[in-house]
Amino acid sequence: MSAATRGAGAQPDERATRAASGGRDAPGAGGRACGDPAVGATRARLGPAPRVTVATDAALAARSLLVQRDLDDAAWDALLAASELLAGDRGRRPLLAGLRFAMLFLAPSLRTRTAFEVACHDLGAHAVPLQPGEGSWTLEHRDGVVMDGAAAEHLREAVGVLARMVDGIGLRAFAGLRDAADDLAEPVLAAAARASGVPLLNLESALDHPHQALADALTLRRQVGERCKVVVTWAPHVRPLPMAVPAAAVQAFAREGHDVVLAHPEGFELPDAVLDAARASAARRGGTFTVTHDREAAFEGARVVYAKAWGSARHYGEPAEVASAAVRRPGWMVRERDLQRGDRAFFMHCLPVRRNVVVEDALLDGPRSLVFEQAAARLDVQRATLCRAAGVDPASQEPS
Ligand code: CP
Repeated sequence: MSAATRGAGAQPDERATRAASGGRDAPGAGGRACGDPAVGATRARLGPAPRVTVATDAALAARSLLVQRDLDDAAWDALLAASELLAGDRGRRPLLAGLRFAMLFLAPSLRTRTAFEVACHDLGAHAVPLQPGEGSWTLEHRDGVVMDGAAAEHLREAVGVLARMVDGIGLRAFAGLRDAADDLAEPVLAAAARASGVPLLNLESALDHPHQALADALTLRRQVGERCKVVVTWAPHVRPLPMAVPAAAVQAFAREGHDVVLAHPEGFELPDAVLDAARASAARRGGTFTVTHDREAAFEGARVVYAKAWGSARHYGEPAEVASAAVRRPGWMVRERDLQRGDRAFFMHCLPVRRNVVVEDALLDGPRSLVFEQAAARLDVQRATLCRAAGVDPASQEPS
């Protein structure tokens, strides 16, 4: 299984890997490619995740953004403050003039790729977007394999080469959704981190989406600005999707000191490592974190309802089970009437979203929806993480 055709190139979200699966929304969870082994029957409870380690170089680690748990609270707050400093026209300054950043997209993107490329442009840097399998070689990420399959290049060489030509690398590599233990280990992100001698930015990995998390936190600071009840709710979908966004969201909102409620049907538990991180952040930052299967009760008094579909931990690697009507649970689609249980509740979603499957039209198109505010915040956050990767403090270079 090459990175571009399996874990690293899997497209379990709306973002189907065209090169590997032949088309967006191709059938089958994760868009398995020919030659992949049979879907694993891994049903293991999603236990603690190993820590993703960057190179031993502490300075390099401090400029990389791999998983949220790597950021201490000071670094988190500094990134959000820098995002505000760089918002709007204040971010259109050549703070990174002459620098170059590569993007390795092993899965499709609209917002992330655009934010990265526009942020580089705004800051005077050059962006090199690469989509392995479409314009650059398909990649293998595992060590010690005989590369006699579809992959033409190993991630070690690809990242090693890029690191000699650019000042930072962004990487998107979704969960494979076949083997829970494999996904928990963040194999592609970890392999890239080991191979890269320049800062590495996680543009969504198996179990985290730190840029989306920062943008969502920023959006909530802007729109609400005080401690509130935030419900992160599971939503139905026609395919099993990764857990990166809900995992990112609960960690982010807990770190922001909100009263976070994670609502999902039984069988859709997030990994223990994610729940533990959210609980620890809530305790440290003065909020709360609870998990419930009672969606109606969860919405009572909510200021924010954040919807996301994700696959069942119980049926990991079994797309047919996940897609069954019983598991799809259309009653969990978020509707306007759900928000009416809340307290002037806003609706949030990272996008892309399936209308009238995840959320009804009226809510998505209505005045309580913050989806465009969230997307706009991605650009502000991207500018901030690029500055951090370059070791540039925007606060020290405020326009006069
Ligand atoms: N929310 C998000 O990351 O969107 P893209 O997949 O389009 O980048």
